Amino acid sequence: MSSYSIITYGCQMNEHDSENIAGMLEALGYIHEEDPWSADLVIMNTCSVRENADKRFFGVLGQFKKMKKTNSDFILCVCGCMPQQPRIVEEINKRFSWVDIVFGTQNIAQLPELLEMRKKTGKKQRAIIDNNPHIAEDEMKPVRMHQHKALVNITFGCNNFCTYCIVPFTRGREKSRMLAEVVCEIERLVADGVKEVMLLGQNVDSYKDALGNSFADLIKAVNEIAGLERIRFMTSHPKDISDEMIDCFKSCEKLCKNIHLPVQSGSDRILKRMNRHYDRKRYLEIVDKLRAVCPDITISTDIIVGFPGETEEDFEETLDIARKVRYDSAFTFIYSPREGTPAAKFEDQVEDGVCHERFNRLVELMDGISLEKNKVFMGREVEVLVDGPSKTSENTFSGRTDGFKLVNFTSDKKEENISGQLVKVKITETKTFSLEGKEI
Ligand code: SAH
Ligand code: SF4
Ligand code: F3S
Repeated sequence: MSSYSIITYGCQMNEHDSENIAGMLEALGYIHEEDPWSADLVIMNTCSVRENADKRFFGVLGQFKKMKKTNSDFILCVCGCMPQQPRIVEEINKRFSWVDIVFGTQNIAQLPELLEMRKKTGKKQRAIIDNNPHIAEDEMKPVRMHQHKALVNITFGCNNFCTYCIVPFTRGREKSRMLAEVVCEIERLVADGVKEVMLLGQNVDSYKDALGNSFADLIKAVNEIAGLERIRFMTSHPKDISDEMIDCFKSCEKLCKNIHLPVQSGSDRILKRMNRHYDRKRYLEIVDKLRAVCPDITISTDIIVGFPGETEEDFEETLDIARKVRYDSAFTFIYSPREGTPAAKFEDQVEDGVCHERFNRLVELMDGISLEKNKVFMGREVEVLVDGPSKTSENTFSGRTDGFKLVNFTSDKKEENISGQLVKVKITETKTFSLEGKEI
């Protein structure tokens, strides 16, 4: 029997694609091997959102060549967002011509066929298309990373073309799955033990199916599914979020009180150059509405520092909006030019030194706010959906609150009796990125 291993980079879309790939391989009889250096088949599911992702990928890819020498049946596949760019495929073909199979984000369903062709003909296989009109999602049988929670695609691709972003080029145009199909999939997942679903899309708020159902309609329908405990979604775009969606935080009891609402910048001038289609006033209005409807809501964000043309004044507007919103947590990135995107050609690129200095100031501010926001949990009881044993310390479990706070806690229970369960935890210590406690 042959074994497979998948190395996944990037976002939840890739994580879920890897789950689908694992499902296909197991249906073909492959068995999972944790260590890629011991597997007969290695899949590298790549990300291209920032430049360091590219560099890391080529570094790791190069190391796999030696596997070809020690195992003559060894097969290496590259998939995900990198091969959606012709320059990357050219580079693979030139510098890493021993790579067996390369397939794109919209050719995943073809993997079994590509593997068979590779074995039958001995020829390298390449399958990358730009805009596959066929959504294969309903035919997929993913092997989930967690028994109790599942990733569920609701849209594919992106039409927004933020000027810094490669994703519209790597994932194609936006397509929405039918509401009824999403509901059907979640019902099956719940029957299989799933308590929490994460609805996935690059911009979930622009979800619209062929019958005209909106994202709010979808949340309301998913909220009706018996046995499901929690609904999350990712990612919201401030330009498309509707009042009806915001009201779901009150009317849908399963919808977790948490939203990831990337702001990217606090400067109207930069937001315009980013092609984001909202300004700081509109963004702050959304935050006010969310908090009016759901006072306990936790809010996280993404921020890019050093976008071309960003001045000290622009950056201070970013610090200012962060202070005003008081985010629970934030992912902060230094702008990384991506070939083929408009911003990469803007002439006023910001110097590295300035970017790093601003980045550090932003992180310091955000961490301080996160810590303050976590402090209020001291002594409180929270409900946690347990993911499993904590990665950092023994005899400790970790999980997430409704508001997506990471909680590490001690318990007298055994792993098999607690993983995937909702438990009550008393918080005894608060940190910047986590809460610590004890099961009650
Ligand atoms: N669809 C999501 C995000 C996808 S990418 C959204 O619109 O919010 C995740 C994050 O990576 C983005 O929110 C952005 O902050 C960051 N990002 C994307 N392209 C980048 C680039 N070229 N340089 C730095 N950060 C980038
Ligand atoms: Fe990229 Fe913008 Fe689409 Fe998000 S909305 S994936 S940042 S283009
Ligand atoms: Fe990366 Fe592609 Fe996701 S570029 S962030 S894996 S959509």
